[in-house]
Amino acid sequence: MENPQSHTLQLMEFMDNSTSPYHAVKEASEILDTAGFNRIYEDHDWDLSAGAFYVIRDGSMISWIVSDATSLGNGFAIVAAHTDSPNLRLKPVLTGEKFGLKQFGLETYGSPLLNTWLDRDLGISGRLIISKNDSLIETLVQINDPICRIPQLAIHLDRTVNDEGLILNPQNHLRPIWNDLGSVMETFKDFLASQISEPATSLKSWDLMLHDVQSATRIGAENQWLSSGRIDNLVSCHSAITAIKDLTEQKVQNRIPMVCLFNHEEVGSTSATGAASNFLPSVVERLTSQHKTSDKYRALSKSTLLSADGAHATHPNYPEKHDIEHQISLNGGIVIKRNNNERYATTATGQAFVQTLCDSNGLPYQLFSNRSDMNCGSTIGPVTSALLGIETIDIGIAQLSMHSSRELCGVEDAELLTLFMKLYLKSGLFSNL
Ligand code: CO
Repeated sequence: MENPQSHTLQLMEFMDNSTSPYHAVKEASEILDTAGFNRIYEDHDWDLSAGAFYVIRDGSMISWIVSDATSLGNGFAIVAAHTDSPNLRLKPVLTGEKFGLKQFGLETYGSPLLNTWLDRDLGISGRLIISKNDSLIETLVQINDPICRIPQLAIHLDRTVNDEGLILNPQNHLRPIWNDLGSVMETFKDFLASQISEPATSLKSWDLMLHDVQSATRIGAENQWLSSGRIDNLVSCHSAITAIKDLTEQKVQNRIPMVCLFNHEEVGSTSATGAASNFLPSVVERLTSQHKTSDKYRALSKSTLLSADGAHATHPNYPEKHDIEHQISLNGGIVIKRNNNERYATTATGQAFVQTLCDSNGLPYQLFSNRSDMNCGSTIGPVTSALLGIETIDIGIAQLSMHSSRELCGVEDAELLTLFMKLYLKSGLFSNL
């Protein structure tokens, strides 16, 4: 990494700005724009000549580089990550009020650690649909002022909480307060409309979510860790986009490097834009449409997909939750994830390829396997590998506090991941096996 310091600063800025999947895609597209990528649209005809391109479908994005007509020869070198993070999302009606306070209802998205959303200063972001001049317009909104809070019940009113644990009912206990009764602003919809200087009647609907307004920060005695919301999985998104952006300065021979950032991983990927959708297969189809069908399948047989997502670091306070023969450390290098029940897509072949690429470039790596008596999490790896039938490897970097509103990972790991992805996108993994 030429300048690790500035890489970390760029990562922190990316995390702070990407408070919703739509904002993550917007941030990523701005990075690619500055590197000379061309945005193309699904409802246009595609000029398939050489160049660097990206296409956006809501909160998902696919980017790639075609150097010349021979690029398909060795297939695609794909990195995939996800733009969404577990959080709390707004409902369609926002009229609640109780005991002198204005509130609104929320729904959990994915599996957030609910307690981590209490007593935080919360902002809101996402997209609004506005009616203007007889048409519906989508606009992104991001409010980083602390406009609401979910207050925890005082211990005097909940004496057993430290012994018996905190039980939160999402319907009753996660309603934020945002204003006093009797104030000028009637409903939260009025407040949202005021933020975009539109009348409340023109505000039709929204996909909005809360975020902790505290910025990403380096912590630890040697500033060696990064504390931020959405580390899972914006760190992987940022590494992937940085890696493909830097490739435009070099010519990639006989290979199409590609980066896929998918929405909806945290809720199972089944949506029009998620990893289980036809987004990636349709892009592959269009990129290979001028070739013979057999050329397409020959290319896919040589392709690989790196599915990058957060990995569990071994927690020092809960050693019993980990397989001690597969310890994972923060700043310990690329984590290769294995699971014999296909919760991760990595095969022996994929593992060996990643190890070889790391070894030949002096990059550290670690092997993760879940405890055999616990259910294992999953990623977009198995979904995409099943859709395309290509060798897929689940990797990531270690983190603590996964699915907290504020997670923790190693600063060095984030740089390493970027470097690793750069090497992979340039050369692929299949060499001589
Ligand atoms: Co994840």
